[in-house]
Amino acid sequence: MPAIQYRKIVSTDIPALAAIRSANWGDLDYWQHRISGYINGELHPQQALMQRDIFVATDGDKIVGFIAGHLTKRLGCEGELEWLDVAEDYRRMGIASELLKLLADWFVQQNCFRICVDVDPKNMKAQNFYRKHGAENLNEHWLFWKDISVVLNN
Ligand SMILES: CC(C)(COP(=O)(O)OP(=O)(O)OC[C@H]1O[C@@H](n2cnc3c(N)ncnc32)[C@H](O)[C@@H]1OP(=O)(O)O)[C@@H](O)C(=O)NCCC(=O)NCCS
Repeated sequence: MPAIQYRKIVSTDIPALAAIRSANWGDLDYWQHRISGYINGELHPQQALMQRDIFVATDGDKIVGFIAGHLTKRLGCEGELEWLDVAEDYRRMGIASELLKLLADWFVQQNCFRICVDVDPKNMKAQNFYRKHGAENLNEHWLFWKDISVVLNN
């Protein structure tokens, strides 16, 4: 089992994050633009507030996963989980769970508890993952936590 470490994003991480994201959809340039615009406060998801952060998981020098979230007014929530991705070779080792805890802790520090996430109903890995961590249906495409601090108590 690799020794995974966790930390906040630095700007030089962005190409690696774009590479992980583009393995599923979109190309590198698209994701570099989206991720750098997001973290620099120049591109905003719907109804996002300025407060946002990204945490990364590393195996030595290699970035193997990341999570992003921001404060929001969307869907009556206080926060939104924007992206969560773990590189294929590193899945099912608990990395996404650790990343979710870091973001949950960040939300709680901002005094935000009601958190939503847009999840494709057909994405069973993600559906299982979020439900395992206490998320419930908000509508067909969204899950939410009434109180994200439950993630910290698991
Ligand atoms: C969803 C994702 C982030 C999970 O990352 P991970 O590091 O493998 O997750 P963890 O090891 O922390 O958690 C594992 C749990 O997730 C769920 N899960 C993960 N992979 C699964 C699979 N192939 N089938 C079913 N459930 C799965 C299960 O609940 C699992 O718990 P279990 O092992 O007790 O059954 C990862 O599969 C991924 O990056 N997928 C592609 C991007 C994506 O869909 N992101 C979410 C978009 S909203």
